Amino acid sequence: MALKRVMVLTGGGDCPGLNAVIRGIVKRASQEKDWEVIGCIESFNGVLREPTEIVELNEKAVEGLQIQGGTILGTTNKGGPFAWPVRQQDGTWTTVDRSDEMIRKLQYLGVDAVINIGGDGSQRISLGLAQKGLNIVGVPKTIDNDLSSTDYTFGFQTAVQICTEAIDKLVTTAASHNRVFIMEVMGRDAGWIALHSAIAGGADICIIPEIPYDINKIKEKIEQRYNKRHGYCIIVVAEGAKPKGGTTVGTESSEVGYQHIRLGGIGHQLAAELKAAGVEHDIRCTILGHLQRGGTPVAFDRILASQFGVRAMEEVIRGNYGQMVAYRHPDIVAVPLEEAVRAQNLVDPNGSLVHTAKGLGIEFGQDTPVSK
Ligand code: F6P
Repeated sequence: MALKRVMVLTGGGDCPGLNAVIRGIVKRASQEKDWEVIGCIESFNGVLREPTEIVELNEKAVEGLQIQGGTILGTTNKGGPFAWPVRQQDGTWTTVDRSDEMIRKLQYLGVDAVINIGGDGSQRISLGLAQKGLNIVGVPKTIDNDLSSTDYTFGFQTAVQICTEAIDKLVTTAASHNRVFIMEVMGRDAGWIALHSAIAGGADICIIPEIPYDINKIKEKIEQRYNKRHGYCIIVVAEGAKPKGGTTVGTESSEVGYQHIRLGGIGHQLAAELKAAGVEHDIRCTILGHLQRGGTPVAFDRILASQFGVRAMEEVIRGNYGQMVAYRHPDIVAVPLEEAVRAQNLVDPNGSLVHTAKGLGIEFGQDTPVSK
């Protein structure tokens, strides 16, 4: 019997659990007699480059991978088949669409199906390729948890755990020095990492993109945390947060093929705004950055990633393409890619988790109270 080939790849920023998905796919495929798995290096680059960079993935190659952070296949959040960077004669860069050429190459390589593990950008690529007739299944990943068709993406809980432990550590130094500590976390336009870790870590103030802040509200809360000069205050701020009427803090990237604004710096801006507003206590700012994406996945993410891997392979076996696997508690389901990329999953300022946080006394810097 001729073997069918499924090609697996990881795209976008890495996150803990990617290897557990790869392992789930390979282990489930190995239970079938007619499927073999190959991995494409650095998202679709392994196919788009000459010579081709693909590797065989068998049970031996994925042994014990559920505990390993990062991705054994490598990844990139630049370029891709629809926007491949090409240097022009004058030295500037432009992009070309290489999707048709890539699909032809996949046929030549005997690839019957593709599993694309990635965030919203990667799943938009999956959708584009599905619309061109490629047999493709998506698996949602991101620490940001900003995909709307799944209850959770894997990687998110690990990031929250890392941030929570960081708050636990900041509390002792903040209390010893009577300081205000600002901790800036990732999440792009979504405040999920900030909100979850602020609750778990017992922060006093949580600033998220979904609730533009009023600096005076934040100042008021800080002063409540002090008795004259004694006290401390922990502020968690999401990288995509902005003041009321203001904009996010970030920089254009000069990296070739990088299409996002690199968010970051709101923590220091907030410190400066608080000083300008008259806060006299010491203020320090910690930016957790890529620490949030490193290391081994927590158990929840290992389990979710394994579920996604097994289910994605089962969609391939069934021939149910153009889908993204998703978690809808307590089930793993498949949703059409069109639906999967339609909307972002953002924090609802009137939702239950913000309500809980307010019940715990966490200040959001909001100038108008939300309905209960
Ligand atoms: O989307 C995941 C994420 O970690 C965001 O939270 C963050 O803004 C971005 O990626 C950082 O990207 P890079 O790794 O390119 O700096």
